[in-house]
Amino acid sequence: MTAKLRDAMASLPAYVPGRKIPGAVVLASNESPYGLLPSVADVIAERTGTVSRYPDMASGELIAAIADHHGVSTDRVAVGAGSVEVCGQLAAAAVSDGDEVVFGWRAFEAYPIITAVAGGAAVRVPLDATHTHDVDAMAAAITDRSRLVFLCNPNNPTGTAVGGEALTRLVDGVRDDVLVVIDEAYREYVDPSAVPDAFTLLGGRPNVVVTRTFSKAYALAGLRVGYCLAAPEVAGAVRKCQVPFSVSGLAQVAAIAALGDGEEVARRAKQTVAERERVRAALLDAGYDVPQSQANFVWLVLGERATDFAEACLAAGVIVRPFVGEGVRVTVGADDENDRFLAVATAWA
Ligand SMILES: Cc1ncc(COP(=O)(O)O)c(C=O)c1O
Repeated sequence: MTAKLRDAMASLPAYVPGRKIPGAVVLASNESPYGLLPSVADVIAERTGTVSRYPDMASGELIAAIADHHGVSTDRVAVGAGSVEVCGQLAAAAVSDGDEVVFGWRAFEAYPIITAVAGGAAVRVPLDATHTHDVDAMAAAITDRSRLVFLCNPNNPTGTAVGGEALTRLVDGVRDDVLVVIDEAYREYVDPSAVPDAFTLLGGRPNVVVTRTFSKAYALAGLRVGYCLAAPEVAGAVRKCQVPFSVSGLAQVAAIAALGDGEEVARRAKQTVAERERVRAALLDAGYDVPQSQANFVWLVLGERATDFAEACLAAGVIVRPFVGEGVRVTVGADDENDRFLAVATAWA
């Protein structure tokens, strides 16, 4: 006789992490290719002795630094061990058994997992023909049972983003007792003239939440820090749903230092954007279908050929992320890594 688990466990999709093989070029997890920021490395080295103690459970200094960075009061900020945990905290705060969670599909693969863990029912709304969120269809998918909407902007894995008008239409089209979570994990790579900062645009609405992460442009994926900006009541609930001490002390000081190194973060992001455009142009020249990306990765629409393409890359020592039957997501790496990837991709084409 085995222990009785919740029915949802039987069908819970598995999160597929990007593969790591020693010596290979890893372009599968949307990490920063430039390594730890030197200023952050110094802070971590100074603070390693603190790990025998529990960290500040409230992450007070970190929350103050984030609030200052965005020009908001501290009661509008909540943190977690990565923005994926913050998304889980939001679902825990808003979703009860059987409630519906609406998101585009395909989008970030954690959304269905988070929804099922919270006991909710996932409502997947297909992306449009340009691989972009169809915000009108998302608004139309709202029912009496809806409690939460995730909008991944830019979208992982397609890289596409919706602009200010569509963002506003989505929020206008959703009842104000439904949380709209705009996941901006890749914000630093976006062209701000095409895609406004969602919190500046819509943060005044009490049901709008914006999530951000230190895992991408701030190069701290391994230390696990993310946060949300929300109405004070929502941020308060998200704090209550955090696993106690989930953001380590090293993660807190590292994130504060990374926020203080904005110029270097912006310089690196600019380099990634330039490389993204170079990679996309070369792929288009080679005949691939690659939507315009606003993130640190590109999406190759390969359909049934996705797995073959990823295998060919792997054989050449380049790890990319295939989505079977749909396409392949390739993180923009350092210049030489992108050259290696483009050599395989152009030969395969
Ligand atoms: C859209 C999106 N949101 C959130 C995350 C989670 O990032 P983290 O938990 O490392 O902050 C990712 C990571 O890949 C992502 O692609």
